[in-house]
Amino acid sequence: MNTLLTNSPEQAAEFLLQEQVIAFPTETVYGLGACIDSEKALSQIFTIKGRPADNPLIVHIANLKQLESLAQNLIPEAEALIKAFWPGPLTLVLESNKQISPLINAGLSTIAIRQPNHNLALKLIEIVGKPLAAPSANISGKPSGTKAKHVLADFQGLIPCVLEGETVYGLESTVVNCQKAGEVNILRLGSISFEALKKVIPNIQISAKNQEASPGTKYKHYSPQAQVKLIEQVELIENISTTNCKAFCAYIGFEQPKQSFSKVQIINSCEEYATYLFSFFRECDEIGLKTIYCQIPPAKGLGLALRDRLQKAALIK
Ligand code: TXA
Ligand code: MG
Repeated sequence: MNTLLTNSPEQAAEFLLQEQVIAFPTETVYGLGACIDSEKALSQIFTIKGRPADNPLIVHIANLKQLESLAQNLIPEAEALIKAFWPGPLTLVLESNKQISPLINAGLSTIAIRQPNHNLALKLIEIVGKPLAAPSANISGKPSGTKAKHVLADFQGLIPCVLEGETVYGLESTVVNCQKAGEVNILRLGSISFEALKKVIPNIQISAKNQEASPGTKYKHYSPQAQVKLIEQVELIENISTTNCKAFCAYIGFEQPKQSFSKVQIINSCEEYATYLFSFFRECDEIGLKTIYCQIPPAKGLGLALRDRLQKAALIK
């Protein structure tokens, strides 16, 4: 199969309407999308990605009218979050309408929904005229695709089309469980910070048992082929041979390291860290590096979400 790279949402929409899977950009990362009423395309997402069947998908909507057909009995906190953050990188887990395909929500009584803040994504959904279910566009376990070339690296020949556009945050959306009033909690940290959410829902918690609550969080994620090692300060980089470091290792962090690395990315803020991280992982793999040293960001704001991704990437394979 040829994979067409296009800037035209009209062209991309045609494939979706023919029940095919395509990739499209959002403000967080690329999504691998299917129309929510196409069982064929929905099940293909799982095959192409190698995604476990019990990991539900996020449904992307263009407007609040589409929300009505997907979710019901919205709690006041959900209304408040929608008002504050949509369109934007916030996914809400809501009580699902009964007729939702189990291919979307893995047979749960809930459904994860977000309205992306991205012109191309919104246009695409509008042209198609129905919501799109889309996980991040990466082979399961790999870092999420933030550029069209990442998506092609994983899915060239497997999908008919990639709608090309810029992503902004480089990190996935924050997923918030809004099933029960008074018990709203964060299932996955992401582009909207804990602090920002607290301003709207003062008693919001970070779910301690998100492993059970959000099926996706139990799987290994975001990892490059190279071994990821986390360091607090550049001085703490273990004593590795200079030759090895120069030939096989990379570094990403706020401070300039003293050693020479094969590849170095200095970042000035957590926002920049988020933008570069997944791209950096993929570039390191492309040139066959063995170890990536990542400086741990501060445990606040976007830093919390970055720490979550870094810790998962650093798990021993
Ligand atoms: O930014 C994003 O969220 C991107 C873009 C494409 O929108 N999408 C994304 O999708 O990251 P994915 O499939 O890689 O991650 C979705 C997460 C998973 O951890 C999944 O388990 C969780 O959302 N999720 C989906 N439906 C759920 C539900 N009904 N209850 C609990 N968690 C759910
Ligand atoms: Mg993902």
